[in-house]
Amino acid sequence: MHQESLDVQANWKLITENFQEYYHLTWVHPELAKVSRVADHYRYQGRGMYCGQTTTPVSGDERDDWLALPEAQGLDASDLVSGRFVAIFPNVILSVLPNHVWMMRLDPLAPGITRETCTMLLPDGVRDGDGDADADADAIAPTRRFWVDVNNEDIDIVQRGQRGLARGGVPAGPLAPRFEEPLHRFHNMLADCMTNDGLGALRVPTGDQPGDTWGAGDNPTPAAIDRVAKGA
Ligand SMILES: [Fe+2]
Repeated sequence: MHQESLDVQANWKLITENFQEYYHLTWVHPELAKVSRVADHYRYQGRGMYCGQTTTPVSGDERDDWLALPEAQGLDASDLVSGRFVAIFPNVILSVLPNHVWMMRLDPLAPGITRETCTMLLPDGVRDGDGDADADADAIAPTRRFWVDVNNEDIDIVQRGQRGLARGGVPAGPLAPRFEEPLHRFHNMLADCMTNDGLGALRVPTGDQPGDTWGAGDNPTPAAIDRVAKGA
């Protein structure tokens, strides 16, 4: 296990909402989008107090440094090639890869400040504190660097969003069913929490049922940001 924390100038709900949709990958995370493509994302939603999505397959053909750690033992054929991205209500978000888990806990310090506690969970066989410190750091360095870069990109975009909201320049708008149904699910869980006196009264959302069409079919792939800038 490897853990560190930092304070972000944004409301905790903005941070988890950003995590729960993947259409921002192309523009906010050009490197992540090479190995976790928008086109390879799918809904991953069962019954429970969470919002989920999956990338299948996780690709290492353009960038493989974050796949340097050994794979965990006992994974089935699907988990062996997939990334599972789960926001556990209300404030824990998980990125579960075949060879590690990147976890963040979001603790609100103020309406516009959130402390992120980031934890990297490692499979057996990776040294993580009980051996030589340099060797431990070397083993996880590529994966840690990858996630620090991704998280810094998310921090930049959510802090911009926070500033826009604080200035009142962002009008409320409809959610896009294909990409933002998880946010709707999150909003409903949040509304339930705020309108019930006890946890026992909360409704546990159902998962996807056969025939549901939320997010079904091929994803449209957004144009790369350089093409957008050129008006292509
Ligand atoms: Fe992101």
